[in-house]
Amino acid sequence: MNITSAKFITSSQHVSQCPKESYPEYAFIGRSNVGKSSLINMLTGRKKLAKTSSTPGKTRLINHFLINGEWFLADLPGYGYAKASKKDREAFAAMIEGYASLRTNLVCFFVLIDSRIPPQEIDLDFMEWLADSGLPFVILRTKTDKLNQKERHLHLSALKEKLHETWEELPLIIETSAETGAGKEEVLGFIEETNGKVTGEEKRDA
Ligand code: GTP
Ligand code: MG
Repeated sequence: MNITSAKFITSSQHVSQCPKESYPEYAFIGRSNVGKSSLINMLTGRKKLAKTSSTPGKTRLINHFLINGEWFLADLPGYGYAKASKKDREAFAAMIEGYASLRTNLVCFFVLIDSRIPPQEIDLDFMEWLADSGLPFVILRTKTDKLNQKERHLHLSALKEKLHETWEELPLIIETSAETGAGKEEVLGFIEETNGKVTGEEKRDA
């Protein structure tokens, strides 16, 4: 899929403020600083579409982008921001829960995981929650440019092994880098294919 247009629509604090559910929606989520906004910019080929920052916790709202006038991309705030207060963490959990359960055009989550570190409890917990809630997801491993091939394989194997403790069948896992553009074709190809299946009325059963 070629991205011919990518338009920022709105920032929302609550799912009730999100744009009308007119298009299939893909949500990008992951730990704070994992590289969500950078990956969105890489995928869309727009350097400044989503705001990036070396300070974790930059994205605090649900940001909607309309891509090619046919699908929504939602940039969600990062979870597991170490410095966030308990109150902030609870507010975040409520926001995501509301978003995930009420957003009927939601097709799939992309769960971003840092390729350089061992599987984190918080990521595993979140994926279990998605699975229990019946929400489909794909794993995107980020920042793979920072690893050599051997390290990459080691971390990928560790992740798969960990996931196998919970699931027999694993979700799709894509290796990505906002620096090199790795994974771009695969992610956009997946979205294109999925969009083809989700036509008009056939939205996810809420
Ligand atoms: P929050 O919005 O704070 O949750 O962060 P985020 O997940 O949106 O991360 P963001 O895209 O802002 O990136 C965080 C930091 O990681 C920035 O300093 C980026 O430059 C860096 N970064 C992101 N993706 C990559 C990548 O693929 N490779 C490398 N080398 N650095 C990256
Ligand atoms: Mg961000």
